[in-house]
Amino acid sequence: MAKSEMRATYLRTEYKINPFVDQLAPRLSWELTAVGYNQTQTAFQIVVSSSKEKLEQNIGDLWDSKKRLSNRSNQIKYEGTLLQEGQQVWWKVRVWNQDGQVGPWSEKATWEIAKLSKAAWQAKWIGKDLNQMVKRNGEYLLPPSPYLRKEAQIKKKLKHARLYISSLGLHNFYINGEKIGNDFFGSGWTDYNKRVYYQVYDVTAQLHKGANAFSATLANGWYAGYLGYALLVGSSQVNQFYGKFPLLKAQIDLTFTDGTNDTIVTDKSWKWNLGAIEEADLLQGEYYNAGKLLKGWNIADFNDTSWAHVDEIMDKDNQALELYPSEPVRVVKELPVKSIQRIEGGKYIVDFGQNFAGIIRLKQQGKKGDSLVFKYGEMLFPDGQLMTDNLRKARATDTYVFRGDGTLEAWNPSFTYHGFQYVEVTGLKEEPQADFLTGLVLSSDLHEVGDFRTDNDLLNKLYSNIVWTQRANYVDIPTDCPQRDERLGWTGDAQVYMRSAAFNYDIAAFHQKWIQDLNDAQFDNGAFPIYAPMPKNNKGIAAIRGADYFSPGWSEAGVICTYEIFKAYDDHEIVRKSLPYMLHYMEFLKNRTVNHIFPEGAFADIEPKGGFGDWLSVGEKTSPDLLATLYYFYCNKLLYEMCQKVGDLAYAEAFHLEMGLVRQNFIKHYLTLEDGRLHINTAAYGTGEGYVEGGNGFSGHTQTAYANTIYVGILPNELEAKAGKHLRDLVVENGNQLTTGFLGFKPLLPALSKTNSSDKAYGILLSEQYPSLGYEIINGATSIWERWDSYIKGEGFIHNAAMNSFSHYAFGSVNEWIFENLLGIKSLEPGFKKIQIKPEIDGKEIRHAEGTYRSIMGKICSAWHLDGINLRQKVEVPVNVTALCYIKTKKLKNVSVNGKPLTKEFISKYVTQTDGYFVLNLGSGNYEIRSKMER
Ligand code: BGC
Repeated sequence: MAKSEMRATYLRTEYKINPFVDQLAPRLSWELTAVGYNQTQTAFQIVVSSSKEKLEQNIGDLWDSKKRLSNRSNQIKYEGTLLQEGQQVWWKVRVWNQDGQVGPWSEKATWEIAKLSKAAWQAKWIGKDLNQMVKRNGEYLLPPSPYLRKEAQIKKKLKHARLYISSLGLHNFYINGEKIGNDFFGSGWTDYNKRVYYQVYDVTAQLHKGANAFSATLANGWYAGYLGYALLVGSSQVNQFYGKFPLLKAQIDLTFTDGTNDTIVTDKSWKWNLGAIEEADLLQGEYYNAGKLLKGWNIADFNDTSWAHVDEIMDKDNQALELYPSEPVRVVKELPVKSIQRIEGGKYIVDFGQNFAGIIRLKQQGKKGDSLVFKYGEMLFPDGQLMTDNLRKARATDTYVFRGDGTLEAWNPSFTYHGFQYVEVTGLKEEPQADFLTGLVLSSDLHEVGDFRTDNDLLNKLYSNIVWTQRANYVDIPTDCPQRDERLGWTGDAQVYMRSAAFNYDIAAFHQKWIQDLNDAQFDNGAFPIYAPMPKNNKGIAAIRGADYFSPGWSEAGVICTYEIFKAYDDHEIVRKSLPYMLHYMEFLKNRTVNHIFPEGAFADIEPKGGFGDWLSVGEKTSPDLLATLYYFYCNKLLYEMCQKVGDLAYAEAFHLEMGLVRQNFIKHYLTLEDGRLHINTAAYGTGEGYVEGGNGFSGHTQTAYANTIYVGILPNELEAKAGKHLRDLVVENGNQLTTGFLGFKPLLPALSKTNSSDKAYGILLSEQYPSLGYEIINGATSIWERWDSYIKGEGFIHNAAMNSFSHYAFGSVNEWIFENLLGIKSLEPGFKKIQIKPEIDGKEIRHAEGTYRSIMGKICSAWHLDGINLRQKVEVPVNVTALCYIKTKKLKNVSVNGKPLTKEFISKYVTQTDGYFVLNLGSGNYEIRSKMER
């Protein structure tokens, strides 16, 4: 058999490397490497074995797919023997290339089946209600953390051991004094009444024969702590949304070398006591009294006779208990201190030079009982004091009380996090060393997949600001902001930003979790909520604020976010899982339509009236109902595509039909045919009272209205071109500046590009005038701000402090245009199997741009460099992918690929012409394409 060099690498199971899974038929994927060009996979063979040794001998005793003719390299389901809980399997794969030659076997990979049902759990929920033991009276009810422990004997020689752990609340777990896992905030935020997650760790190395100590600390977290703006708006409930105090469930399954098993579980034999953590809350911060930590509490042979027994809670078992689907929150970067300034009152301001979400690590010596108080802020007042006005009711304060035993004390909080760049430290007796603090950047630990650089510093900074803001807000769920008393999974923010997010990090596992949160939060009538998870009272009403319900542009996240995962990763399973929820939502919307659209005033019954509309737009206000109609059209369109691809053809047809009817009636109601202008019946809004900024009046002739119209593709070509003209005119009339808010900004640049106004898109992208992202940068931004005018250098904070976050990713949605248009990397079908490389080349302020995106098919690169009219493009197409590569030139004879002019044969076979571009149809490989860009 002829051999090839094509090799499968980066083997993953359910998007993860060597994971625990709770699917019996998990999905496998790999990337491919090969030398040369036009390499494709024509077949694969997967071997799954019950042991490493068998795999090495190519014995697929669990599954041998044999040579399977297929070009698929992802979303391939395991089809072998039924696997058991706790079973670890090994797998590898080899592939055949386009010439039918087989390549070498890949490296080994594994997965292990975690617990599949509650029956596998003997552990009980344990905890202790410490709400009566609040130490410091103040505005907040902040009970101490219970310290839990148990010792157990291991009598035989251990083969392996697994810790399965879950909490209603947050936990740290220790075995023989060692913290298990470097994760934060397990088990994440869910609708705990419906679902709670557990995590699994291999703890074989932490255990030994003889006495072993198991211990934990717990905190309220999202389960029982403060959430959102409940305090701010004076809600009747401000905390304890899911339960009154945190609970732990942990089970250690032991397998001995003699083949027998044993388990150690949480139950009422565990004991509890108070310890160093005297307060812990995600929003309010942590109070750590090191002097109160009982020495040796988490190691064996500790005398715990004075400790009391925990409570075993029996009525908390109604929800599903599933494996955490995302990647855990971890420290993803460490930041050194940039500067330390002494301010009034003997306080110090520590600057980390970057706005981020996370915590600090302290390394300092102190006297017993002395304390340091840390307050966190994103900005300073002009006099150098910390600005915390925008935190509202988030106390965001940590305290450390020294043990004072003469040694260097090291500490970081573990049950809270903050959004900050600056820390105000009170209590230092003298100027500290620069390294007394380190910034620990916390984020869901996702794989970085994107990279972008140009010869323009402003744009490079913008990209950095986008990525930092994503990091700060992809913390278990996609939050709006990490600093103030909000940190909610706002659906509108998430949906406008999600495609942008996918170009920076592999968000598949992360969003699988959050889409489940979103589905779990659906209202009984089918409405998706405005944030998820959304705690609700027993009447099904939002508990943080009763009026929080649904809004056009926000709730559609229930469809759009599922679509984005489907589109980026060719993931059909997420579609199948979400389909019942999406269908219910579409029925809810459809029932509210009048003639298949939403006329003016259609949402006057919600609060605010019409929903949030084009939130934080500047100047003109777009009719929220016109926007709602466009979103309705878009959802029908996305569902049409998804249902078609997953084979639900009857639904696909129904959505297609509805699309047509929406289009027809939208044009009839909202558009003047002669000039293609969008209009609305302004009278329908009366004084606008009850609408967001309704007093300003609404219009249909706005940047936001045209941008969305063009982006969702509701108009036939001729009318779309007219809409494009209006959009361009509106931008020009406004001094080439934007007027858009959350819903208008995401489609603005793509819509300009789609209607031949790429020049205006560039203008907006690179503007340094208010309102623009560049304006933020010249005013010192290291992250994306909530508002276009959050702060002005020299003038300060010009807006209401309550709504002024400096870390809000929504306007980072421009990243989609950077990758899809500036670099020109677009997926032509789900999963980047077929792509388009069509960079929009500015040639004025930017002459060089390069970027990569590691898709599910592998690494895609696009770079361009303009020297005079000489254009050099670099393209990397992954193995098994084909790319339509667009060259903007007038004459083919000026085009060379990898130093050679194009042959006649190549041209006739692989080159087409469209819209002033020559299009090369390329297979895998690295290309350097030279041409001349005549204007
Ligand atoms: C959040 C937003 C969110 C909005 C709803 C705000 O408080 O920070 O990002 O989408 O409310 O309009």
